[in-house]
Amino acid sequence: MQPWRVHVVTGEAKTRLSCAIAEIDNDPSLSNHLEDAYEYYPREWTSPYVDRRRQVGWELYGLLGIEKGDKQRMHAQHGRNYRFFDAPVGLIFTIDRVLKEGSLLDYGMFLQAVMVAARGRKLHTCPQAAFLKYHRVISQSLAIPADQMLVCGMSLGYADETSIENTLVTDREPVSAFSTFHHNNKETTP
Ligand SMILES: Cc1cc2nc3c(=O)[nH]c(=O)nc-3n(C[C@H](O)[C@H](O)[C@H](O)COP(=O)(O)O)c2cc1C
Repeated sequence: MQPWRVHVVTGEAKTRLSCAIAEIDNDPSLSNHLEDAYEYYPREWTSPYVDRRRQVGWELYGLLGIEKGDKQRMHAQHGRNYRFFDAPVGLIFTIDRVLKEGSLLDYGMFLQAVMVAARGRKLHTCPQAAFLKYHRVISQSLAIPADQMLVCGMSLGYADETSIENTLVTDREPVSAFSTFHHNNKETTP
């Protein structure tokens, strides 16, 4: 079904989009009550997901020397999302609203393919759910029709390997933690 639609932003169009988002993001009276384009995250966070998410967040902020409660620096760091982390190319992905969850599964594979293909060309990417909150201004800025829903954004460029945040290596659960092997009606975990 090839449900993907991609808006590639560079140059002035990218700057215009980033500025339009930043204007809202930097004004809590405008940004506080915005809803994401769809429910990417659960409304109620539970373990172990909330713990894993926090761990990555605190490890990243730890590397950057941002302390708990330093809202200003946290906001500034988060705001870098909207400048596509200064990458030269921004990608905005949308999907036709008539499509269902299955197409989002296909979409995830497409995003992964873009990221792997980028690595094959020595490029780096950062997929970004941070854009979901700003779907309205993004649609306005890029003239995205109302029948398209924002899926996520992505930065595309060359990672600054000297930046401390790019040394972050995230944890992975071992295979045994998420797999159950069934054989001869007996369940085993390795
Ligand atoms: C769908 C998706 C959305 C993401 N959204 C953001 C984002 O908005 N901002 C960001 O900095 N990283 C985002 N990330 C990147 C994760 O923060 C990144 O994957 C994390 O650093 C863990 O690295 P890993 O994927 O190698 O485990 C996203 C990743 C995925 C797969």
